[in-house]
Amino acid sequence: PIRPALLCRSQQLHGEGQQPTFGFTVNWKSFSGACLAAADPGGDSTTVFVGQCFVDKSREESLHTMWLLREEVKAEKDDWKATRLHLRLYWECRPPPTPSHQPGLCTGSTSGCQLRIQHGVGPSADRSPPPQCSLLGLWQNDLGSEMNISAGNNAGKFFGTYLTKVS
Ligand code: BTN
Repeated sequence: PIRPALLCRSQQLHGEGQQPTFGFTVNWKSFSGACLAAADPGGDSTTVFVGQCFVDKSREESLHTMWLLREEVKAEKDDWKATRLHLRLYWECRPPPTPSHQPGLCTGSTSGCQLRIQHGVGPSADRSPPPQCSLLGLWQNDLGSEMNISAGNNAGKFFGTYLTKVS
């Protein structure tokens, strides 16, 4: 089943080079409302991600993440089976279905995918400094799940939605 959720409590560490690290939480009951508080007993599972945004030689961006998924279990005796760990989850920028009105835009916003197109082609690309890897944009992972990071701020917070294709 396809299951949407909001990214919560996300943070990207700014000013630490061109390939920043980041982290965020996904609460799988949170899509229709605000993110659940940490102590909320109603959540049935939560995933935390950490990762890094990379820019390769051709200035294409990718995300390398790992995650921990905690499911609610009914009794303490089931604690042993409540957590899953996945060390390598790879994300690529997902281009729009039709590169129509604004070529190079991944999402229509100021996305990292836009940076790679604007700066990544032609002879001048080799001389200009590489852009800082940006999390903004529409991403797709190895599992087919999609994440749309649509806004960030100067405090390192970013916001978006997560649509898992597996659960
Ligand atoms: C659930 O059913 O408990 C929530 C869905 C969990 C989906 C997980 S989160 C980590 C991994 N990456 C994905 O894109 N989906 C799965």
